Amino acid sequence: MKAVIPAAGFGTRFLPLTKAQPKEMLPVVNKPTIQWVVEEAVDAGITDIAIITGDHKQAIEHHFKPMEKLEKVLEKAGKTEELKEIRKINEIANLEFIVQEEQKGLGHAILCAEDFVGNDSFAVLLGDTICTGNPNCTKGLVNLFYENEANIFSVEEISLEETKRYGVVLGKEVGKGIMLVKDLVEKPEPNDAPSLLGIQGRYVFTSDIFEYLKLTRDGADGEIQLTDAMKSLANTQLLYSWIFNGKRYDIGTMKDWFQSHLELSIESEFSLVLKGVMNKL
Ligand code: G1P
Repeated sequence: MKAVIPAAGFGTRFLPLTKAQPKEMLPVVNKPTIQWVVEEAVDAGITDIAIITGDHKQAIEHHFKPMEKLEKVLEKAGKTEELKEIRKINEIANLEFIVQEEQKGLGHAILCAEDFVGNDSFAVLLGDTICTGNPNCTKGLVNLFYENEANIFSVEEISLEETKRYGVVLGKEVGKGIMLVKDLVEKPEPNDAPSLLGIQGRYVFTSDIFEYLKLTRDGADGEIQLTDAMKSLANTQLLYSWIFNGKRYDIGTMKDWFQSHLELSIESEFSLVLKGVMNKL
């Protein structure tokens, strides 16, 4: 099992914040969002990971690459804890960085990883979305993928006003929280939404999805949509959706970004620092 993390978008919802700063590098508690996402894949047992970036997003690659100068400074200063932390990031996984030359949508970004994936199965984790829970969302999906020997992705309940932000699924319940997918619509108007279950941004596929991606034409927002390829795949292969009950934060929205910082810090050593700061406000 491999993982592909698309992180190439322009982050237009968050401008001007994301003009030079990739949204995947926005800090959540004490590390950038993308590190939370890579750690989720690693915790799910995946170590071969491709990150799809744009040539305007080199900060992501720099974050995971060794930085000799910094390591030397830390070594000299005897800052062993900091050094350990920095080296841990360098060695976190076998990371490959693939540049998506043109911004043609999520489906196109995934297609850029075709050679990297080869004939393996692979998880997709959107690079601007943090999921927590035990087991984490990707781990849960990987387990179900092997159990059912079928493609699967996670969903959550959304409100009618939110359908235009999500891929929305229609299916038949076949197990607790699990549906056999019959139809999918990317970013429907509330009236056209087949249900109120929205795709979260965590998936596990066989490499067959690439054949469907290649046949997919421009869809919602004039982009090549992964959801459209999944819809075609569901016509010929088993595709399941799974309601993930853990927490999900879309760091592309101000509300979730702030919330993630507050809620995720509770479990970290930073909670005390944060509480101290909040008390002074
Ligand atoms: C993408 C997917 C969509 C999914 C959403 C979750 O859309 O295309 O199906 O529901 O992520 O955040 P985006 O947010 O990139 O527009």
